[in-house]
Amino acid sequence: MKIKSAEFVISNSRADLCPIHDMPEYAFIGRSNVGKSSLINCLVERKALAMTSSTPGKTLLINHFLINGDWYLVDLPGYGYAKRSKKEQEKLSKIISYYISQREQLTSLFVLIDSRLEPQRIDLEFIANLGEMGVPFGIIFTKADKVKRAQIKGNVERFLNRLREDWEELPPYFVTSSETGMGREDVLNYIEKINES
Ligand code: GTP
Ligand code: MG
Repeated sequence: MKIKSAEFVISNSRADLCPIHDMPEYAFIGRSNVGKSSLINCLVERKALAMTSSTPGKTLLINHFLINGDWYLVDLPGYGYAKRSKKEQEKLSKIISYYISQREQLTSLFVLIDSRLEPQRIDLEFIANLGEMGVPFGIIFTKADKVKRAQIKGNVERFLNRLREDWEELPPYFVTSSETGMGREDVLNYIEKINES
């Protein structure tokens, strides 16, 4: 899919204050620093549409970006950053769960997983919760430029095997790098297919 336009619309902390429209939304979630905001910039080929940082905890609100005038990418705060105060963590969990559980326009959530790591309990638990809530989702393995191909393959396979324990059918998954653009087309084509269905 060709990206003709990408514009920041609004940041806010509540699902009921998100833009009013009936277009599909695709949102990005995952541990702090996993590369959510970078992937949004990669998908739209813009350096700083979404704010990124080498320090975890950069994105703190729900951020809406209108793409090609007819669908949205949504950048969410990350989960699992241990250095946050309990109060701050609770506030962010509320923002995330508001959006995920209440946003009718949410067409697919993408859960980002660091391809450098063995399966992490926090990610598996988050995905198990999505299953219980019935939220449609896909998995995006990130930062593939940072590890050898064999290691990515092993980590992805181990992660999928963990999912197979709970799921009869695996969710769609993608291996990406926001540095090299690997997987960009696959994610965009997947979104395009849903938009057209
Ligand atoms: P929070 O908003 O804090 O939850 O983080 P985030 O998930 O939005 O991560 P962000 O996109 O800000 O990226 C975190 C760091 O990882 C930044 O220093 C990025 O440059 C780096 N990064 C993200 N994606 C990639 C990637 O594909 N490859 C490499 N090498 N670095 C990446
Ligand atoms: Mg971010």
